[in-house]
Amino acid sequence: MSLQFSVIPKECCHFISATYSPKSFLISLRKHTCNSCNEKEIWICLHCLHIGCSRYCNGHAQKHSLKRGHPVVFNVQSMNFWCYECNSYVINNSLNVLFQLALEDHTSNFKFYQPLFETYDVKGVAKYIQKNHVKNIIALVGAGMSTTAGIPDFRSPGTGLYFNLQKYNLPYPEAVFDMNYFPSNPAPFYEVMKDMFPGQGKYFPTKCHRFLKLLNDKGILKMVYTQNIDGLESVAGIPNDKVICSHGTFRTSHCLSCHKKYPDTSVFIESIKKGEIIRCSCGGLVKPDIVFFNESLPDEFFESIKNKFDDCDMLLIIGTALVVYPFANLVDHVSINCPRVCINREKVGKMMCYDNLGRDVALLGGCDDIASDLAKYLEWELS
Ligand code: APR
Repeated sequence: MSLQFSVIPKECCHFISATYSPKSFLISLRKHTCNSCNEKEIWICLHCLHIGCSRYCNGHAQKHSLKRGHPVVFNVQSMNFWCYECNSYVINNSLNVLFQLALEDHTSNFKFYQPLFETYDVKGVAKYIQKNHVKNIIALVGAGMSTTAGIPDFRSPGTGLYFNLQKYNLPYPEAVFDMNYFPSNPAPFYEVMKDMFPGQGKYFPTKCHRFLKLLNDKGILKMVYTQNIDGLESVAGIPNDKVICSHGTFRTSHCLSCHKKYPDTSVFIESIKKGEIIRCSCGGLVKPDIVFFNESLPDEFFESIKNKFDDCDMLLIIGTALVVYPFANLVDHVSINCPRVCINREKVGKMMCYDNLGRDVALLGGCDDIASDLAKYLEWELS
């Protein structure tokens, strides 16, 4: 289809080619409000996908253009390109490619240009699940899902683990789990492990763990990617082949010197309970296979993320600050048509857009309470 313009656009030489993926361009097309003022009459900068409002609002698009030297913008409502250098509607071959991409998506995915949820709250999410027969849910979970089990998270001010390590005189809190620090001073880690080590009959699955188990019983849970090392997902009865321990596991260990593998870390349980440093028969340090900073995530994680997200039809993001990569990037592995539901005390995720007009929704509060409410609106029994 050729371009139908009310005015004849000029041939423009100020936009040569896109420096971003088609997926990033399409995600921008579905944004609804100006980055700076929430106005809805917006232009997309085709040089960096910044969203600015028109000069009939607060002129943030033109201000961005002048400040960054990005002259060409696109308006998805009118499907027109404007160049602040040419001071005219414009077109060229590269712009025409973007136009076709936008037209195709706008035509075949029109419903995703409208608000996805009737209401951007627990009830709206429950209704969406029922109305759209959601059946491939992926959950990305973090330490916030286990706090009501009695396990502190890491970054909650005051209660998070990283706020309570003063006695170890660490150079920085994360050092306790850092491969650049651990070999030279392993004692703090083994002290901390005394409380964290799972299977000591101290911690039990929370209501939110049981909600994920219920999703599995209903046949609509596809995968759980957990950053947690407490093992409570499998204690809750979620099948192990549906849980990816993205930040490793305490279950197994290995020696840092001779690389001997220990298939069952609990052989050291007496030393663990005393917070003692665990040594291999060769004298080297034995380290559980939890992922430290400056260590790679398990191969199983990278294998799994290659193809598990394509048919995900709802992403749940539960109890995580989404600040540790590459795990935090997973929110962008789902298709641009996949709703993303953040269940957390506060909004998280640089890549999320909580404008209550698109596919992202934040359900703020305690994850156990939200899980209970979701089950109630879905008319499910959650113990
Ligand atoms: N309900 C809802 N949200 C909660 C709850 C709760 N009961 N408790 C805590 N939270 C929220 C916090 O507000 C915070 O946003 O959960 C999030 C926990 O964030 P972090 O403490 O940073 O934990 P997490 O995101 O899992 O950390 C990721 O960092 O230190 C590394 O490897 C470690 O896996 C860990 C990673």
